[in-house]
Amino acid sequence: MSEFTDYAALPPDFAWGTATSAYQIEGAVAEDGRAPSIWDTFSHTPGKVDGGDHGDTACDHYHRWPEDIALMRHLGANAYRFSTAWPRIVPGGDGPVNARGLDFYDRLVDGLLEAGIAPSLTLYHWDLPQALQDRGGWTVRDTAHHLAGYASVVAERLGDRVHHWATLNEPLCSAWIGHLEGRMAPGTTDLTAAVRASYHLLLGHGLAAQAVRAAAPDAQVGIVNNLSTVAPASDRPEDLAAARRVDGHTNRWWLDPVHGRGFPADMREVYGVELPEHPGDPAVIAAPLDWLGLNYYFPAVVADDPDGPAPYARQVDRPGVPVTRMGWEVDAGGIETLLLRLTEEYGARRLYVTENGSAYPDTVRADGTVDDPERADYLERHLAACARAVRKGVPLAGYFAWSLLDNFEWAYGYDKRFGLVHVDYATQRRTVKGSGHRYADVIRAHRAAHTDSAA
Ligand code: IFM
Repeated sequence: MSEFTDYAALPPDFAWGTATSAYQIEGAVAEDGRAPSIWDTFSHTPGKVDGGDHGDTACDHYHRWPEDIALMRHLGANAYRFSTAWPRIVPGGDGPVNARGLDFYDRLVDGLLEAGIAPSLTLYHWDLPQALQDRGGWTVRDTAHHLAGYASVVAERLGDRVHHWATLNEPLCSAWIGHLEGRMAPGTTDLTAAVRASYHLLLGHGLAAQAVRAAAPDAQVGIVNNLSTVAPASDRPEDLAAARRVDGHTNRWWLDPVHGRGFPADMREVYGVELPEHPGDPAVIAAPLDWLGLNYYFPAVVADDPDGPAPYARQVDRPGVPVTRMGWEVDAGGIETLLLRLTEEYGARRLYVTENGSAYPDTVRADGTVDDPERADYLERHLAACARAVRKGVPLAGYFAWSLLDNFEWAYGYDKRFGLVHVDYATQRRTVKGSGHRYADVIRAHRAAHTDSAA
């Protein structure tokens, strides 16, 4: 197992966090006025989610949040990234606000602050109110404006205590996996719908950023993207071109417009779909960012695939390269490469690793412990890569491990466990895994390193 020891490279006020999202952990889907989201619909559609799993109960965090905050304290975390559920707060997508939904997050935020844990709030982590999907979802422009309306409501209520705001989590998944590949809600396979959705998501990001700032002038607003390093499977010209397209599809399509560079011309050509552009949109989409979030899991190694869906490339498995339970290659160097790219190519001035983690098949042993050396190793290797990036000048301000808890892993259901804390879904018993204890050690050692150097 690697030993991460370069603690002092990370700044003294580094945010050590864990991350979750509402639909993956909360449960209580029909409680206190919450209405269905597209993920309720999708997961209850036969054949869409492995094992027929759904988020009806999930980790029951809606009722067990005090215990979950205690777990964060136990880890020594000083930050927590979570998402608010739009269908709990504005159940119809727009229109009446559900006070009981807002009250839940009010209690959660107060509980976090009492525990000395800074809340980092994501407004949209894929749980679009079904009522809006019924009106066209992300394929229609109004949805972007409704996101901003919901953002105002949340920021007006919580903006006095929450300072760290993300508009969207991984819009790539909402647009490409949800609308083009059909493996996530809403489950369509239509390139035009997907490109329109991608546009309206980024427009929604800009409008929501404005709304949060109007309600909470001190808010630090950012966006969270899942990015990958991209390498061609061979040096065939076709594979080199495929790698360029995948970089456009996965990285540049999401980064360029929010940095004021517009949507990449090469990818507009690849998709061949007219964007639903209105005058003034580019400036809205490029709303100033206080920070940028990187979710990193695995590298993309790709080959040309002219018969597949856009961007006409397929992921290639390389024999002998270690993979997680998701089948994702482990390559810690990728996080360093991406952090450097965001700094050098996009001029990022404040970065967070907003998600990073691994799924392995964990079990509780007879003595009640959960030993997960592969996850602990993954964690340490990626933290070491973050420290290398910081030494090279990357302005990394925090790291959020995905995830605090094992949870509902979308179309893979509950079988894929990403938590630093194991959840027994039958009893809802939580057990800190070996990797969770290791994370706590790292956090402690980082604090000690800075305390020693200050003394
Ligand atoms: O579980 C997801 C999360 O919701 C978004 N980022 C990737 C994680 C692991 O697949």
